[in-house]
Amino acid sequence: MPRKTKSKKTEKYPSYLKDQKTKKVYKNVIEEYTSVARMYEDKWKKYLASTEAAILKQLKLKGNETIVDAGCGTGSLIAALREKKKHRGKILGFDITPAMLDLAEARLSKDRFNKTLQLELAHCENFSAKNNSVDIVLCSNVFNHLPHPEKALQEFRRVLKKNGKLILVTLCNDYPSTKIADWIGRILYKGHHRAHSSAEVDALLKKQKFTITDFKTWKATHILGVMLFEAKKR
Ligand SMILES: C[S@@+](CC[C@H](N)C(=O)[O-])C[C@H]1O[C@@H](n2cnc3c(N)ncnc32)[C@H](O)[C@@H]1O
Repeated sequence: MPRKTKSKKTEKYPSYLKDQKTKKVYKNVIEEYTSVARMYEDKWKKYLASTEAAILKQLKLKGNETIVDAGCGTGSLIAALREKKKHRGKILGFDITPAMLDLAEARLSKDRFNKTLQLELAHCENFSAKNNSVDIVLCSNVFNHLPHPEKALQEFRRVLKKNGKLILVTLCNDYPSTKIADWIGRILYKGHHRAHSSAEVDALLKKQKFTITDFKTWKATHILGVMLFEAKKR
């Protein structure tokens, strides 16, 4: 079960970030995304268009699946699921940065009326979905921010139904240019923890008892290589 640290006060979103330890660990990420939130989509336009298109292509939806978008940012992927994939099932989008979640809320506010969309302030190691309740977890461009990616994978596994799918898209430092960008990123972007190689993510997924069902890697920009893993909960 998620560790319930939700505030009793009425707030804009349910929050699972109340404990000081969590806030301290993620301070850098929250500060970085608070300062870039309004520019985020413009700044990373080409990169985000590439990763979002890959996820949408990968997803074969019936339309009523329960989906979690882990680190949903400005809500662009959720909007695309609704508009381009005609998805109408339950979606939980959560993010650790209130400023990013505010943009998601503004973009998706109409959707909130029909009660199938829930947004919450949470982190990948602790969010509200119940055990074995989710068909698909999406984790797009978040993995490089996680100091403990294995704990996030455990949490994704906890909420997924048996045979439920995880789609994980993240930087791929198999490419030399991405490896260099990763090192520079650690200096310039205080929320960036590290990029991974495909072998590292493969091993992490297998350790958490996921079966990898698909893998792709490509250059989202001239410099930044990315990878997509589709994995199934056994
Ligand atoms: C590069 S953005 C990606 C946003 C969105 N998924 C996308 O692909 O456009 C990274 C997002 O992950 C969030 N984030 C970073 N670490 C997180 C964590 N541990 N739990 C939840 N969200 C996190 C940041 O606040 C930010 O909104």
